[in-house]
Amino acid sequence: MWFGHGTDNALDEASWLVLHALGLPPEQAPDYSQSVETESVVTARALVTERIERRVPSAYLTGSAWFCGLAFKSDERALVPRSPLAELIETGFTPWLRDGPVARALDLCTGSGCIAIALAHRFSGCAVDATDLSADALSLAEENVGLHNMTDRVALYQGDLFQPVYSRRYDLIVSNPPYVNAADLAAMPAEYHAEPAMGLGSGDDGLDITRRILANARDHLEPDGLLVVEVGESMAAAQSSFDALALNWIDLACGGDGVFAIAASDLPR
Ligand SMILES: C[S@@+](CC[C@H](N)C(=O)[O-])C[C@H]1O[C@@H](n2cnc3c(N)ncnc32)[C@H](O)[C@@H]1O
Repeated sequence: MWFGHGTDNALDEASWLVLHALGLPPEQAPDYSQSVETESVVTARALVTERIERRVPSAYLTGSAWFCGLAFKSDERALVPRSPLAELIETGFTPWLRDGPVARALDLCTGSGCIAIALAHRFSGCAVDATDLSADALSLAEENVGLHNMTDRVALYQGDLFQPVYSRRYDLIVSNPPYVNAADLAAMPAEYHAEPAMGLGSGDDGLDITRRILANARDHLEPDGLLVVEVGESMAAAQSSFDALALNWIDLACGGDGVFAIAASDLPR
């Protein structure tokens, strides 16, 4: 068993499944003295058994996941939301983002739409565009945008990175792109193979997509704009590949690694 899709230990994972089976909120502390219906016990056992035997992330078994304190629908069409970018969204990207309102933001590689929707919740009045190459992922994102009543604030586009947004410019571009290198991809635990392959691998060094984001982001940012990208375990490779760029590697209080911010003015023309 591997825990990397919203929990990092067996007890939290089991609590998630059991609370779901009992119809209780996920934030409820386990109460071991509570009496429960036999039917719920059967459902809980079935979920735990499926989790162990099929090695599928719990979010896909329960159909939901949480990100930035918000509930999202989650299934095999897109990666399970778990990006450490949540912490930066909650703190408004301080101190990296300049002061003042954020009028337009872009979420590249949006998957389930969790980052785009969380950005719209965090920055009131901000219009958020979100792109993804996968039609499946976008169909899930569309359901999540509806769930959060954000159809007038979050626009979804299918296409390759910036291609669907043409020459539009943004105050903030955020991306959790595919960033797993070829060697790590081959060795990943079974739980990750339940997720869409398009969401994980990014060439030999894990940086194919990030390289293209860095090369093109300046054309899509306002002069005082900010680009924030997660590259996870490919951080060391990124530090050596992009050593000519002023990437600011961010210390995250909630854990997680490999997130950088870079000002538009520091990006290549
Ligand atoms: C790591 S997942 C992140 C999903 C979501 N942002 C999150 O944090 O849960 C990366 C996403 O990038 C998408 N993707 C892969 N290649 C792409 C490309 N060339 N252009 C746009 N999206 C792409 C995948 O379909 C996948 O949904």
